[in-house]
Amino acid sequence: MDTSDLRLEGKLTVLRAKRPEDADADYAWRVDPELAALDATSPLRMSLKDYVRYFRDELEYPSPWSVRLAIDTNDGVHIGNCMYYDINDQEKQAEIGIMIGDRRYWDRGYGTDALMALLGHVFTETPLERIYLHTLDYNARAQKAFRRVGFRDVGLVRRDGHNFLLMEVRREEWLAKFGHRVRQLRGQAENGTDREGHIETRPESARPQPSPGANR
Ligand SMILES: CC(C)(COP(=O)(O)OP(=O)(O)OC[C@H]1O[C@@H](n2cnc3c(N)ncnc32)[C@H](O)[C@@H]1OP(=O)(O)O)[C@@H](O)C(=O)NCCC(=O)NCCS
Repeated sequence: MDTSDLRLEGKLTVLRAKRPEDADADYAWRVDPELAALDATSPLRMSLKDYVRYFRDELEYPSPWSVRLAIDTNDGVHIGNCMYYDINDQEKQAEIGIMIGDRRYWDRGYGTDALMALLGHVFTETPLERIYLHTLDYNARAQKAFRRVGFRDVGLVRRDGHNFLLMEVRREEWLAKFGHRVRQLRGQAENGTDREGHIETRPESARPQPSPGANR
């Protein structure tokens, strides 16, 4: 599936393909010690110039085993990123990751909204049947958002000196819980009614383009 112009609309967020101009914000988030710690990694040490080069290479030669998306607010502010990766076509599973880099948007429902849009896409537009993740055992904020979109705890995993909670959600259980919402919202989209809770999964090229000057 070509995801290079993917665009997924949630209620508060729009998930879209990464663009070269995202590099500065991504760099600022990658060198941030607190964000790195929440991702159980070290802050990036390369220069912005080197990072921009690496970032552009990634855009030009994307991995077939991962889909990386920017998270914008629905009025066009880039606030974070999410991805599904380690895509395993045989096992029909992938891991997901999410980071709202701009702290002003924490605890306001943006993460939950972006995760719903991402899972709506994964479970209705791809053959993937199981999505899992590892989150630090003390990351209560993340766990609350993950549980709210259908993830359940599988168990604790010790890796690289950290304790992670492994969480998962399967397509069947997710659709049983949230499928009606996707169907209802798609119906609204097709009828051209309001965007409240709308999960848009058509590629950007198939959608009407914003009017000139729109901040997207
Ligand atoms: C984790 C993350 C994606 C969640 O997104 P978010 O938009 O902040 O989360 P939401 O507002 O949708 O939901 C978070 C919930 O946790 C609650 N919460 C926050 N801190 C909490 C804590 N210490 N203990 C319990 N609940 C907490 C919030 O109040 C909110 O619940 P509410 O809506 O009932 O008030 C985002 O905060 C983030 O990217 N953080 C930094 C990086 C990170 O941790 N990434 C995840 C790595 S696995």
